Amino acid sequence: MSKDKSRSKTVFVCQQCGKESLKWLGHCPDCQAWNSFSEQRVTVSAAKISGFTSPILPLELSQVNIETTDRFSLSLSEFNRVLGGGIVPGSLALVSGDPGIGKSTLLLQVAALAAKERGTVVYVSGEETPHQIKLRATRLGVDGKKLYLLAETNLETILERLEELSPGLVIIDSIQTVYLPDLDTLPGSITQVRECTMRLMQWAKPAAVPVFLTGHVTKDGAIAGPRVLEHIVDVVLYLEGEAFSSYRLLRCVKNRFGSTNEIGVFEMKEQGMVEITNPSKIFLSPRAEDSVGSAIICTLEGSRPLLVEVQALTNPTSFGQPRRVANGVDFARLLMIAAVLSRRAGIKLGNQDIIVNATGGIKLDEPASDLGIALAIASSYRDVAVKSGLAAIGEIGLSGEIRAVSQVERRLSEVARLGFKYCIVPKIGLKSISVPESLRLSPVTSVREAIEQGLVS
Ligand SMILES: Nc1ncnc2c1ncn2[C@@H]1O[C@H](COP(=O)(O)OP(=O)(O)OP(=O)(O)O)[C@@H](O)[C@H]1O
Ligand SMILES: [Mg+2]
Ligand SMILES: [Zn+2]
Repeated sequence: MSKDKSRSKTVFVCQQCGKESLKWLGHCPDCQAWNSFSEQRVTVSAAKISGFTSPILPLELSQVNIETTDRFSLSLSEFNRVLGGGIVPGSLALVSGDPGIGKSTLLLQVAALAAKERGTVVYVSGEETPHQIKLRATRLGVDGKKLYLLAETNLETILERLEELSPGLVIIDSIQTVYLPDLDTLPGSITQVRECTMRLMQWAKPAAVPVFLTGHVTKDGAIAGPRVLEHIVDVVLYLEGEAFSSYRLLRCVKNRFGSTNEIGVFEMKEQGMVEITNPSKIFLSPRAEDSVGSAIICTLEGSRPLLVEVQALTNPTSFGQPRRVANGVDFARLLMIAAVLSRRAGIKLGNQDIIVNATGGIKLDEPASDLGIALAIASSYRDVAVKSGLAAIGEIGLSGEIRAVSQVERRLSEVARLGFKYCIVPKIGLKSISVPESLRLSPVTSVREAIEQGLVS
């Protein structure tokens, strides 16, 4: 097909991870998948993929113009926050998440705001008809002026339309549905996903138009069509949430223009994604005073401190092995905390089932939440409440020692801001930090000490 024979070749590509091989392999040496290789003719020449501007000459760094990277923000502050302050023209961002989590909803809102505040926006949908999108738009209260829908999946055609419309923002929903006709693989295959993304990148950079892609997530949480995509794009966002909860976290895991691990918090409502600007409040369920088995921790999501309630229930095992259930808490972490409590703090959990929940559907993966989890478990086990108005911060070590955590000041100010009076903190690293006036600290060195201080006596 290709005239440039020297560049046309046949390769075998792993459809899981993108590994290329000159011969067929039954087992992928990189991602260990079986029967994942399929034959592909590579017709996009290397020259076509490389570079964003035509004559590529070395540029002295001091001569590089940065005016095109001035970011702009929309009146959706949680979204701006996650992107590191706003949208960078010419950037390619991937928004991925489970089916039905709200990717299309969020991006339709973003598209509508951008259309209103910045001008023409093109929303390319390969998954839904304009009619379906209109229904959603009506529910979201979007009038849709300057917002163009394009129900097209051929990327060549899409790019032609983009040239005609010269939009200020483009949404591709989803990258798995678009295809390049000169590649002989199906839409959604790794080659298509990768080449389409690269092509969009080549279009977006010189045009200085930000492009948002949605991407499906496979069962095991990886972006389908897969990780190669994360390397190509500038920004990777995950939209997360629990099925039973209407809260959604937009999490940044890669950002070439800002810090990662920023989160934005939304609530999925009838009228769309509503920003939650004071998220600590939602993770604190309305608490009865002195509730047994419940503790408040302060976790950091990016630069943002969040107060979260952790609940624990212990119950004597009635049959067989004691069970441990962790919702929103890392399972291995829970086992470690339970073992430390048993061995170092006299909380004998060997014959107890343990259930731990983080409320609000958040995932606590920071070791600084250890101490709060331990307090909740100890409180349930002893059937004694955690002191009211108390929060706990600290990582637990295997010998029961409490380790220092990062950014204590920032956490303490959030704890104080939400009206808590006391905070258990690691004694280590406490010097030379400023403490909010309304807050009284209980510095501790061991988990045993923390339990003494934290539970009602
Ligand atoms: N009337 C409504 N009120 C509130 N929420 C609704 C309403 N209708 C639909 N939803 C929510 O919208 C979700 C679908 O959102 P959306 O289509 O944006 O998700 P998505 O991530 O794009 O999904 P997909 O992976 O299928 O493209 C549904 O799961 C549902 O919870
Ligand atoms: Mg969708
Ligand atoms: Zn592989």
